[in-house]
Amino acid sequence: MPNIDWKSLGFGFTDVNCHIRYVWKDGKWGEGEFVKDPTITMHIGASCLHYGQECFEGMKAFCQKDGKVVLFRPEENARRMMRTAQRTVMPPVPVDMFIEAAEKVVKANIEYVPPYGTGGSMYIRPLLIGTGPQIGVAPASEYTFIMMVMPVGAYYKGGLKPVRAVILDDWDRAAPHGMGDVKVGGNYAASTRAGERANKKGYSQVLWLDGVERKYIEEVGAMNVMFKIDGEIVTPALTGSILPGITRKSILQILRDEGAKVSERLLSIDELIDALENGKLEEGWGCGTAAVVSPIGHLKYKDNVYTINNNEIGEVTQMLYDTLTGIQWGKIE
Ligand code: PLP
Ligand code: COI
Repeated sequence: MPNIDWKSLGFGFTDVNCHIRYVWKDGKWGEGEFVKDPTITMHIGASCLHYGQECFEGMKAFCQKDGKVVLFRPEENARRMMRTAQRTVMPPVPVDMFIEAAEKVVKANIEYVPPYGTGGSMYIRPLLIGTGPQIGVAPASEYTFIMMVMPVGAYYKGGLKPVRAVILDDWDRAAPHGMGDVKVGGNYAASTRAGERANKKGYSQVLWLDGVERKYIEEVGAMNVMFKIDGEIVTPALTGSILPGITRKSILQILRDEGAKVSERLLSIDELIDALENGKLEEGWGCGTAAVVSPIGHLKYKDNVYTINNNEIGEVTQMLYDTLTGIQWGKIE
């Protein structure tokens, strides 16, 4: 067993036994190979370095009570990565190959999967990059698909507790017909400066508005966002500049199965502020693989700071956390 204090694990890199790598050249994918060395040697002209021809995914494996290690909905990540690859003119990784890579790399690092009851999981980070040299702006002729793994604890050190979010209406994360609905590194590069600005103001997350009218809510930080307004759970409709989250999709299914009133629709900042001012905004939370759900306790817009649900974890937020993690840990079918 590795010498890891599972309970104090955060969300960061830990060296493990190996990752798995596949190379695409001459029009096809080669065999997967385990690589011990976590560094990579590549051509200085690689298209991922110059033109951002890269994408990634994020998913988790969980050790359940009976010791079985399971992956949470990996085919959804596989399909999303295929869509991202198509959008960035990279060779898609077939779903079967993606799942095979995940199973192989988790098995090869099985002792690094945090044991049941520690609250940790194994984070799986698939990465697809253009590694062929490409100086004219065009797709590369060679690609590398890597799947790396690491044991992680809670995304936020303090666990499930409300975060402070701020609307910065002079920064955009994504544009219509851009790449906001796929998982490319450039989206995170585009949002880092605003994130830093928010941190400096004392907020850990940016609540993103649409890039055209700065009117409609899109995402929070690197998560999808949901609100409970006057009994209705509202999440922004996938208009093309929002990443279709697998946690979002899972939550919508849980809520619909429970008979909750759920809407995927445009949600304007005016409607949200109006709900806040009229006491109708009951809860707000971000959702994504890393954090699962993340309650929003404070929201700053222009010169006002609003408190949501007394800065406490709401009933629906807690239920969703318990249900989703319950399924992941195998406590709930
Ligand atoms: N939105 C962005 C920008 C993200 O990076 C993520 C995380 O991957 C999500 C939403 C949530 O997606 P998922 O639930 O698939 O992790
Ligand atoms: C998520 O899993 O919710 C993320 O946004 C991943 C992040 C570390 C890029």
